[in-house]
Amino acid sequence: MLAFVTLSALIVVVNAQFQNNTGTLFNFVPGLGACGFTNTSSQTVATVSGQFFDAFPGATANPNNNPICHHNLTITHNGTSLTAAIVDLFPGGPEFNVGLSTSAFQKFAPLSQGIVNNVTWHVNQ
Ligand SMILES: *[C@@H]1O[C@H](CO)[C@@H](O)[C@H](O)[C@H]1NC(C)=O
Ligand SMILES: *[C@@H]1O[C@H](CO)[C@@H](O)[C@H](O)[C@H]1NC(C)=O
Ligand SMILES: *[C@@H]1O[C@H](CO)[C@@H](O)[C@H](O)[C@H]1NC(C)=O
Ligand SMILES: *[C@@H]1O[C@H](CO)[C@@H](O)[C@H](O)[C@H]1NC(C)=O
Ligand SMILES: *[C@@H]1O[C@H](CO)[C@@H](O)[C@H](O)[C@H]1NC(C)=O
Repeated sequence: MLAFVTLSALIVVVNAQFQNNTGTLFNFVPGLGACGFTNTSSQTVATVSGQFFDAFPGATANPNNNPICHHNLTITHNGTSLTAAIVDLFPGGPEFNVGLSTSAFQKFAPLSQGIVNNVTWHVNQ
């Protein structure tokens, strides 16, 4: 019985990493990121909060080894949907805000708009 309860709790935690989140989208300027990749604004890449990054199953003290670095995320807003590679984290939250490189951000709004409120996003399995 104890084993059953423990396994159920684990499954809930793992699934939570692939659920939809709601947050504010911002423009992020990639470089050498937490995943250890060097990316550019013309690539379709994303950054998530340090809280979300560090809570991803398999995360260790070395961010380069975080399994999240081998996942894409998909952002949906007002009929537009885009998939980007997760390459970095931003410190200080909010937990469910998300950043996209310039070329990707511009699919949702002009850069001059600064942010896009209330985007829905999830990590792809
Ligand atoms: C997340 O939301 C999008 C857009 O509403 C939807 O298409 C997708 O199925 C949802 N995914 C999950 C994992 O709930
Ligand atoms: C991010 O940069 C790495 C090299 O550091 C590259 O292998 C990867 O393809 C880039 N990601 C995207 C989505 O372009
Ligand atoms: C991420 O998305 C790109 C572009 O759609 C795709 O080529 C790549 O295989 C995806 N990577 C993973 C780990 O799903
Ligand atoms: C949603 O998309 C429609 C059609 O493209 C556009 O007219 C409207 O301004 C958009 N709304 C928001 C909040 O971005
Ligand atoms: C946020 O987005 C969801 C999903 O598209 C929508 O149902 C909801 O009305 C939006 N909320 C606000 C405050 O715009």
